[in-house]
Amino acid sequence: MLAYRHAFHAGNHADVLKHLVLVQLLQHLNQKEKGYRVIDTHAGAGAYRVGGASQQQEWVDGVGRLWPAPADAPPGVAAYLEQVKAVNGAGALRMLPGSPLIVQHQMRAQDELHAFELHPTDLRQLEKLMDGLKGIHVHLGDGYPGLPPLLPPPTRRGLILIDPPYELKADYARVLATVRTVLQKFPDAVLAVWVPQLQRLEAQQLPQRLVNAMKGVAKKGWLDASLQVAPGQDRGIGLLGSHMVVANPPHTLGPMLAAELPWLAEKLGQYPGAKGELRAGA
Ligand SMILES: C[S@@+](CC[C@H](N)C(=O)[O-])C[C@H]1O[C@@H](n2cnc3c(N)ncnc32)[C@H](O)[C@@H]1O
Repeated sequence: MLAYRHAFHAGNHADVLKHLVLVQLLQHLNQKEKGYRVIDTHAGAGAYRVGGASQQQEWVDGVGRLWPAPADAPPGVAAYLEQVKAVNGAGALRMLPGSPLIVQHQMRAQDELHAFELHPTDLRQLEKLMDGLKGIHVHLGDGYPGLPPLLPPPTRRGLILIDPPYELKADYARVLATVRTVLQKFPDAVLAVWVPQLQRLEAQQLPQRLVNAMKGVAKKGWLDASLQVAPGQDRGIGLLGSHMVVANPPHTLGPMLAAELPWLAEKLGQYPGAKGELRAGA
C-alpha cells in the first residue's frame, strides 16, 4: 500500500508552482473554442481541508504566504489565486484545491477530464467531489499505463499532468518512459511534469532527462521552470523546491513565468539564496 498522502503537503510551495503553471496552461487552451482532453495521471483527492490532516502545515509557507492575494501579484499568480478563491470565497483559507478541481473549474462543456488515482481513500473523495459532473472520468488505477490509450484525443487538443509522489524510486524511470511514449504518439501534447528538487541523484537528473526526451520531438519545444525555496542540508533530507517541465508550452508561458518566478522566490523563499529559474528551448 502506498504511504504518500497529498493532504499533508497540499498548498505547499511545490503545489503553488504546479498549480500556477496548470492554471496558465488551461487559460491558454480556453482561448480556442474546440474542446480538449485533460489527463491527470496522479490526481489525488481533488480538495483538501485546511487543518484536515493531522500535522498538516506545509500550506502555511506556500499558498498561506500569498493569501489574501497581494496587490502586486503578477497576472499568472493572480489567476492561480482566483482558483483558490473559487473554493474559499474572499475570507480565510478553508480549502486547498487539488489539480482535478482546478481543471474542473476551468473546463467548459466541450472539454473532458480523465483523472487517475491509486489510493482508494483519495479516490473515494475524488469520486464524491466529482459525482454527477459532466465530462469528468475518475479512474481507479495506475496512471502510467492508463494514459497512452487516451491519446491522441479526438480533437487533437490535450493537456497532460504527470505529478507522482516519487515515493518509489521507480517513479523516476516510469515518468521518463511515459513522456517518451506520449510524445511519440502525440507530439502536439501539452505535457507538464512535476519534479521534486531533492538531494538525490535521480531527482537532480530527471529535469534534464525530460528536456532531452522533449528536444526535437515536442513540436513547440520545451520549458523548465524551477523554484528553490530552501537550502540543501547536511543530512540530505527535505524538499528544497521543484520543477515543472513542460513540452509544447504556449508561447506566452515563458515570458509570464520569467516575471512570476523571481516574485515567487521572494515571497516563498525560506533563505536568502531562494531562486526561481527558467530554461526553454526547441
Ligand atoms: C502528488 S499527489 C497528486 C496531487 C495532485 N496532482 C494535485 O496537484 O492536487 C500524487 C498522487 O498520486 C497517487 N499515486 C501514486 N502512484 C500512482 C500511480 N501509479 N497512478 C495513479 N496514482 C498514483 C498517490 O496516491 C497521490 O494521491
